[in-house]
Amino acid sequence: MKTRKLGNIEVSEIGMGCMAFSHGYGAIPSREYAMEAIRSAYDHGCTFFDTAEVYGNVLYYEHHNEEIVGAALHDIRENCVIATKLHIHDDEASEDMYDVCKRHLLASLKALNTNYVDLYYLHRINPEVPVKKVAEAMGKLIDEGLIRGWGLSQVEESTIKRAHEVTPVSAVQNLYNMLERDCETNTFPYCLEHNIGVVPFSPIASGFLSGKITKDTAFEKEDDVRVFVPQLKKENIEANQPVIDLLNQYAALKNATNAQISIAWMLHKYPNVVPIPGSKNKERIIEHLGANTITLTDEEFQTLEQALNSIKVYGHRGNVQFQGQSMKNWGKK
Ligand SMILES: NC(=O)c1ccc[n+]([C@@H]2O[C@H](COP(=O)([O-])OP(=O)(O)OC[C@H]3O[C@@H](n4cnc5c(N)ncnc54)[C@H](OP(=O)(O)O)[C@@H]3O)[C@@H](O)[C@H]2O)c1
Repeated sequence: MKTRKLGNIEVSEIGMGCMAFSHGYGAIPSREYAMEAIRSAYDHGCTFFDTAEVYGNVLYYEHHNEEIVGAALHDIRENCVIATKLHIHDDEASEDMYDVCKRHLLASLKALNTNYVDLYYLHRINPEVPVKKVAEAMGKLIDEGLIRGWGLSQVEESTIKRAHEVTPVSAVQNLYNMLERDCETNTFPYCLEHNIGVVPFSPIASGFLSGKITKDTAFEKEDDVRVFVPQLKKENIEANQPVIDLLNQYAALKNATNAQISIAWMLHKYPNVVPIPGSKNKERIIEHLGANTITLTDEEFQTLEQALNSIKVYGHRGNVQFQGQSMKNWGKK
C-alpha cells in the first residue's frame, strides 16, 4: 500500500480504527477474532492502528482495546505505527501535566506490551488544562523516546496553533466524512500549511456511507454510538438518501463499494489525510483497505465534489463534541 506522512511518521495511506473491538458499536466479537482481524489488516498492507486508553471502559475496563491491539501486533511491532490517546480527567487538571501524561502513557505501554507509542493523542481538550502545558509534557516524552510524535483530537485551528508552537504536532484526529465537513474551513488548511497530518475518524459516517444502513436498521442497546449520531436518526437516514444515490453512481462507475468511494474521495482531496475506518468485520476491513486501489481522476473528483456540495445534509454531529464534559464519565450513559 502507498504511504503518507503524519508529521515525520510514515503510515499506510489507510489505517485501521480498532475501537469497535471494545467500544462504541455494541457487542464485540471474541478477542481471538479481533486479533486475527488486526493481523489480516496488516497482511493487506495496513501499518497504522488506532486505539485509546478509554476504549472498553463502558462494557469492560480501560485499556481493553490497547491490550488487543498490542497482542495482535506484538511480533511485528517495529513494522507498525500504533496510535493511542489519553484523557485528562478533571481531578488531574491541577497536577503537573508531565506527571499526568507520563502516568497515562505508562499504563498504555503496559497494556500494549511495548516500550514506545508512535503517536500519542490528547483525546479531548479538558477546558481546565491549557493545551500548551500538555504540549510541553509531550515534548519531554518525545525527548525520552517514549513516544515518537503527538497529536490532538476533536480540535479546531486555534487550539492546534497554540499546541504546535510549543511542540510540533504530528497529527490531528477529527471527525470527518462526506456528511461532516466542518474541518475543511480552517482546520485542514492550517494542518496542510504546517505539515500536520489529518486522521479522519468515522470516515464512513458510522456506517451510513456504506449504504447498508436503512431506517429499519436496529442499533444495539448497550454502548452503541449510532444511537447518538444525528445523521442516523430514522428521518435523517431517509433525508440523506441523495448522498447514497451519488455514491451508488460512483461505485458502479469505479467498480468499487460505496465505502471505498467515500475513502477514495478524501484521499484525493487532501494529501495529508489518512483515514482510519472501523469495523468489527474482517471482510469489511479488507474492503476499506482496498480503497487504496480506487483512483479518482481529477475530473471524476470534481464532478463528485460538485454534486456533493449541492446536496443538503440532514443532521450534524460537529467537531467539538464532549468538550467540557467530565472526562472520567466519557462514553458512559
Ligand atoms: N478521536 C475520537 O474521538 C474518535 C471517535 C470515534 C472513533 N475514533 C476512531 O476512529 C475509528 C473509526 O471510527 P468509526 O468506527 O466510527 O468509523 P466508521 O468506519 O465510519 O464506522 C464504523 C461503523 O460503520 C460500519 N461500517 C464501516 N464500514 C462499513 C462497510 N464497508 N459496510 C457496512 N458497514 C460498515 C461498521 O459496522 P461493522 O462493524 O458491522 O462493519 C460500524 O458500525 C475508530 O475505530 C476509532 O479508532 C476516534
